[in-house]
Amino acid sequence: MDVFKGFDRNFKVLVADDQPQNLELIKDILQSSHCQVITASNGKDAFEKALVHEPDLVLLDVMMPEMDGYEVCHRLKTNEKTQLVPVVMITALAELDAKIKGIELGADEFLNKPFNLAEFAARVRSLLRLKQITDELENAETVLFSLALGVEAKDPNTNGHCERLANYSIKLGATLGLDQDSLKALKRGGILHDIGKLGVPDSILLSPHPLSEEEWLIMRQHTVIGERICRPLRSFKQVLPIIRYHHERWDGGGYPEGLKGESIPITARILQTVDVFDALCSRRPYKPPLSMDRVFDQMNDEAKKGWRDPTLVYEFIRLVEGKGLEQP
Ligand SMILES: [Fe+2]
Repeated sequence: MDVFKGFDRNFKVLVADDQPQNLELIKDILQSSHCQVITASNGKDAFEKALVHEPDLVLLDVMMPEMDGYEVCHRLKTNEKTQLVPVVMITALAELDAKIKGIELGADEFLNKPFNLAEFAARVRSLLRLKQITDELENAETVLFSLALGVEAKDPNTNGHCERLANYSIKLGATLGLDQDSLKALKRGGILHDIGKLGVPDSILLSPHPLSEEEWLIMRQHTVIGERICRPLRSFKQVLPIIRYHHERWDGGGYPEGLKGESIPITARILQTVDVFDALCSRRPYKPPLSMDRVFDQMNDEAKKGWRDPTLVYEFIRLVEGKGLEQP
């Protein structure tokens, strides 16, 4: 039986079981389907091999020495490098509690011992189909991140700006008690917020002179262009408001829509707060980096003028002063 019939690539599967006969059985099935198999005879070994080999699928026995299957599953699903790899837990029949525990730890599928070959093949195939889609999506995301960093690299004065913004935004978001999805969006928004500058000519983007009114009109388009570039990726849904609204102003004087106060999404307001901070702290062709006292004074001034969300400015300054943030 060819488990991988219909796929246009070869997969790498990690199998962990302390019973050599089980390992051999699974290995035989998978290898006869031209799949690369990595084996581990205990949980610790399985986790370490998953990090090194980055498999497309992990098959885990529950009861294993050193580290049991639950712990391996938990570690895989909480590690950024392996969290998207599907995990199948192998349990004895009718172990309902074991299944519930596995689901709670992030397991994607269960297989009962002894194996039914047809069921095994069907479950493995369905998870690999999912993994293939996830990989394609990840590739598309990687391209967009690279493009965004390419925009940043055009301007030698903004080196590391996107990474810092991602880092600061997450910290401010966490201080404000935002949920995990919003924090993830902030991390991505830090990198992607200015991706729309791809659509702005270099003569404007890198102009050594103050921009004319007409040039400003084009520059402001980067918010809507950026949103349009990222819109096709559903996984970026929560990042779109950050890209579109990161230049709105608390008093309604910003762009592209002139949104006011709390009608500006909180994630966009967070990104703007840290963006202003980073710009003031950094060297620009027209100014040296400001001292931290002057940065805070200016941020407070802008909040008093009504440009920025005063609560966010206050919280962010507290965060920096409390050393909760590494300064540039
Ligand atoms: Fe921007």
